Amino acid sequence: MNLLWGLIMIIFGMFLQPPGVEAADLVKLPPPALKGSVSVEEALQARRTVRRFASRSLDLQQISQLLWATQGITDPRGLRTAPSAGATYPLEIYLVVGDHGVTGLAPGIYRYLPKGHALELTLKGDYRAPVARACLGQSWMATAPVMVVFAAEFKRCTARYGNRGVMYTHMEVGHAGENLFLQTQALRLAAGIVGAFTDQALSHTLNLPREHEPLLIMPVGYK
Ligand SMILES: Cc1cc2nc3c(=O)[nH]c(=O)nc-3n(C[C@H](O)[C@H](O)[C@H](O)COP(=O)(O)O)c2cc1C
Repeated sequence: MNLLWGLIMIIFGMFLQPPGVEAADLVKLPPPALKGSVSVEEALQARRTVRRFASRSLDLQQISQLLWATQGITDPRGLRTAPSAGATYPLEIYLVVGDHGVTGLAPGIYRYLPKGHALELTLKGDYRAPVARACLGQSWMATAPVMVVFAAEFKRCTARYGNRGVMYTHMEVGHAGENLFLQTQALRLAAGIVGAFTDQALSHTLNLPREHEPLLIMPVGYK
């Protein structure tokens, strides 16, 4: 009887998760540094959209720093590095990791969990080329070792602010994106920024939950 139940649970589990994903695929990130060697002014002066990257891996410390700057928690009340209308935090951050993109991290799509500062694997494999195809064929994107995808669950903000919450969410992604740009500069890395994509194709490629709508992608790596 126990064996039968075990089999039923395994078969049921296969339908609950996308292929190749195990429940325990959680990666705890190292703590971010709170001091750097590049000033805000230097980062602002140097920031440019980069569209060509070296084939050089990033490491987990850099990934930790980049994601913390984008949406990390900086206050015991749960407040984050970027402001949010009414602290509703509608943004969801995904990381697309290519083959050898990050030392110690398997290629795949990961969801950033601000609480716990961790990554949750949602899909295994190198999805950079299909993501670039969904971005109207901007193949330069796939030269970056990683891409940071900004998605939003609008209803977290619109539940409080109505239609104005849509505008607030669009403003928020701009704040988070600039945080990532500046942190990239401070680590002497480079980033691109992409808003031109087919929503449906991108959501499908990334296997995003229906309520997480993609807004922006930033490929990151060495120049
Ligand atoms: C919302 C938004 C969407 C963008 N989408 C794209 C894009 O799809 N492809 C691209 O190559 N650049 C894209 N860019 C980058 C702009 O072309 C770039 O910021 C502009 O040329 C100024 O250059 P700079 O960022 O180096 O200062 C986008 C920028 C923003 C803010």
